[in-house]
Amino acid sequence: MSTLKFAVLTGDGIGPEVMNVALNVLKVVAEKHQFELEFEYADVGGIAIDNHGEALPESTLEVCKNADAILFGSVGGPKWESLPPKEQPERAALLPLRKAFSLFANIRPGLLYPELTEASPLKTDRIPNGIDIVCIRELTGGIYFGQPKSTQDLEDGDVEAIDTMVYKKSEIERIADVAIATAQSRGKRLCSVDKANVLETSVLWRKTVTEYVAAKAPELELSHMYVDNAAMQLARDPNQFDVLFTENMFGDILSDEMAVICGSLGMLASASLGAGKNSLDHPFGLFEPAGGTAPDIAGQNLANPCAQVLSAAMMLRYSFGQEAAANEIEAAVESAVKGGTRTGDIAFGGNAASTSDMEAAIIAGL
Ligand code: IPM
Ligand code: MG
Repeated sequence: MSTLKFAVLTGDGIGPEVMNVALNVLKVVAEKHQFELEFEYADVGGIAIDNHGEALPESTLEVCKNADAILFGSVGGPKWESLPPKEQPERAALLPLRKAFSLFANIRPGLLYPELTEASPLKTDRIPNGIDIVCIRELTGGIYFGQPKSTQDLEDGDVEAIDTMVYKKSEIERIADVAIATAQSRGKRLCSVDKANVLETSVLWRKTVTEYVAAKAPELELSHMYVDNAAMQLARDPNQFDVLFTENMFGDILSDEMAVICGSLGMLASASLGAGKNSLDHPFGLFEPAGGTAPDIAGQNLANPCAQVLSAAMMLRYSFGQEAAANEIEAAVESAVKGGTRTGDIAFGGNAASTSDMEAAIIAGL
């Protein structure tokens, strides 16, 4: 019997309650598929600031290092918003975690079931069959991490701040591998997004992607789009895309747009895969819902646990090679939602249910 060893970082707000649902779902599939779950909790984000004085304590990093994957909730909330930006839970926990484990490949599926098209702000005639796209975002390079990064007072009394956007060909190629594999497993269409009419990094990005895809996956239909146009096209006709592929900051922005057109942040999962392999010879990864901590509904049994449950499914697939179990969880979520069980944040037509109703509906489908 194989043992799935992962760190559980529930974080703040609705994090703990939706994590409980994901763990309960995992327990059911573990029994069915004959694998053992071995997980260890650790503090991250605001709760870690409260308990240990920092958002990502060394002890939490240790728990993650001893695991084969990280199941992450969400971090942040009003209580910590007055801290200096560098110490705030989102920035002080997530960015160092990405760096520490070289989590360079961020996979964000944008999925809207046809039954939920009313939940999207797009007119339903633009998305008659829902939405099914994926965004592959480079996560450890670009302007987020480039040096120099600083703020200084100038001699003339002015103040200057600098961020630096850097990309190496090798960094572009390794994320291109993930984009290629994703497109090969889906509709075979890859749209690479850049700003090559302005940025040097984008010129390198476009050249590298063009040559790399031609060499490694000539069967794919590769297109290129400027990021401003891509933002517009996503709102106009999202299903013209199959796999959207882009650098760190553009991916941050486009993936939020993708999330909102998909109707509910409570439905979107994500995977951030590392360069290194875990003890099972699969990629080490961090798996987290795309939505935030939703402090306004925390602790009220109202949060939608689907994104956390779907993130757990992604963990099974990518870091543990448990494809069948992952598929079963995804199908169970789909049938729970299509069957009418919806929590407040994806409700329309008066179908609001609770976190625990949603959990029961998912588990019933397993
Ligand atoms: C995301 C978030 C993070 C990012 C923030 C919280 C640092 O917006 O995961 O998309 O910008 O990458
Ligand atoms: Mg973001």
